[in-house]
Amino acid sequence: MNPIRELAARLRQARQVLVLTGAGISAESGIATFRDAQSGLWSRFRPEDLATPEAFRRDPALVWRWYAWRREQVAQAQPNAAHRALVDIAQRVPTTLVTQNVDDLHQRAGSPDVIALHGSIARTICSVTKLNIDADWLAAHPGEPPRSPHHADGLARPGVVWFGENLPPDALDRAEAAARACDVVLAIGTSALVYPAAGLPGTAQRNGAWFAEINPQATPLTPTADLAVAQAAGTAMPAVLAAWEEYA
Ligand code: APR
Repeated sequence: MNPIRELAARLRQARQVLVLTGAGISAESGIATFRDAQSGLWSRFRPEDLATPEAFRRDPALVWRWYAWRREQVAQAQPNAAHRALVDIAQRVPTTLVTQNVDDLHQRAGSPDVIALHGSIARTICSVTKLNIDADWLAAHPGEPPRSPHHADGLARPGVVWFGENLPPDALDRAEAAARACDVVLAIGTSALVYPAAGLPGTAQRNGAWFAEINPQATPLTPTADLAVAQAAGTAMPAVLAAWEEYA
């Protein structure tokens, strides 16, 4: 059976689906993935060297400007066919959507309940207390970055999880519970290099789930997948929906 038809058949029969997405699902919306070369003036930086508490301590203005650039990229981007296909699939079979992405494209596509393991680029927090800083306050207090309104030693910083930082505990608990409860798990557009997110498919499989990976490139999880679909998400996911209809 061809991989798309097999994936459609498995999803149709599924009781509970877990979908884990990474930067690759937003690539076709024009948002650079983490490990693809960055464009323009940021091309000389590696995200791994900017998305860290140390980088922010060393040069808060540089990190603040990088996130402002990324926020602009996200604002100009639109959800793509893969994001939309996941909304459709979740209307046909109970689905938990967990993303490592900090863009809001799943939410803008209409996914109702996105578990954002690594936070959101749309959020700004205090670097000391981690309390939210709202957009109105930021608009009235320009600065790269402005000092925090919540703590004398704090600065405003992006509400994302940086390397070495803890994930939001409630998000991680919900994601791991979904991994234990699902009977089908999909990993779409992730290099599967960063844990604990990359551990979710393995947790699901140890609890009896069938695992499919959708990624044009192989990853460390590919050898463990029950099905590897070596296609772009924007091609594969709409094709799964079309194949689903054939079974209808
Ligand atoms: N469709 C599907 N997958 C794609 C596409 C596409 N059109 N284009 C690229 N990919 C795949 C790449 O092959 C790669 O495996 O998406 C993956 C992107 O990998 P990364 O850039 O490492 O992004 P991600 O897996 O989300 O990174 C995980 O690491 O850097 C940290 O916190 C950051 O959330 C991020 C985490």
